Amino acid sequence: MIEKHIPVLLSEVVEQLKIKENGIYVDLTLGRAGHSKEILKKLTTGKLICFDKDNQALLESNEILKNINSNFTLIHSDFRYLSNELKKLGITKVDGILADLGVSSPQLDDKSRGFSYSQNSPLDMRMDLSNSLTASEVINTFSEDEIEKILIENADVKFAKQVAKAIVKARPINDSFSLNEIIKNALPAKIVREKNPSKAIFQALRIKVNDELNALADLLSQVANVLNKDGKLLVITFHSKEDAIVKKYFQKLNYKDPKLNRLPVNETKMWHQKIIYPTDKEIEQNRRSRSAKLRVITKLE
Ligand SMILES: C[S@@+](CC[C@H](N)C(=O)[O-])C[C@H]1O[C@@H](n2cnc3c(N)ncnc32)[C@H](O)[C@@H]1O
Repeated sequence: MIEKHIPVLLSEVVEQLKIKENGIYVDLTLGRAGHSKEILKKLTTGKLICFDKDNQALLESNEILKNINSNFTLIHSDFRYLSNELKKLGITKVDGILADLGVSSPQLDDKSRGFSYSQNSPLDMRMDLSNSLTASEVINTFSEDEIEKILIENADVKFAKQVAKAIVKARPINDSFSLNEIIKNALPAKIVREKNPSKAIFQALRIKVNDELNALADLLSQVANVLNKDGKLLVITFHSKEDAIVKKYFQKLNYKDPKLNRLPVNETKMWHQKIIYPTDKEIEQNRRSRSAKLRVITKLE
């Protein structure tokens, strides 16, 4: 069953963005327009620019957004090309940027996409179907060392070496249930009982296939130049690897020269404002929100 995507931290996002009716906002991860819908409703002369690298997300969200008003533009691109894509539209500065990272519920639930370990599907995991690298290629052609590195760097997978060895030995591996079996058999029974190890391993593969952590770092390096004064960046992360990158970037923006105890000349001063977590009520209503963390920064000058 294809489930509806419930937007995470929706009221918190809308409140934190402090949306001006004539402002320019960017939703970097459109999904099913859960956040975009609410942003668009608040715009009169303002504009909403939406990115997604999944064509299906753009197609379905277009149907949702066009019923609200026409102040939106959809862009089929990785968000790592933010500045360039804005430039093509003649936009240099914006008032707010939202990134709600990871995969959407429709992506997870669509068997043909191969994101989920809980249904049997081909090992694909591409957000953008025009990209060539699939999970199958990683699993079936990468070396044992490369697979081990992917598992450790992207998801701190325990027993990564054993899993990588078992994967290489069992090739060819054609579907997610076969991969689940190989993972299970490679690990001590106690580990398998405690927590389904496939979760972290599928996450690591998905991150590799979509180059998620590098895309995030590329994006963050552009934000200071793209935001207007008082503009805000909101990032919702779902696991520690993503969050560590955002946290580090925020710290860098707030960097003070330890010798001078002030910002170096020409640095844009930004302020790491806060971290917001979902309420117990939201977690109860939407399990996917339980690991969400919203970081917000405002450009002060
Ligand atoms: C968690 S969902 C967003 C859900 C959306 N906020 C909503 O409420 O409907 C993430 C979406 O961002 C897209 N995405 C993830 N990383 C991306 C990237 N680097 N560039 C463009 N789109 C990306 C995915 O394809 C997916 O549709």
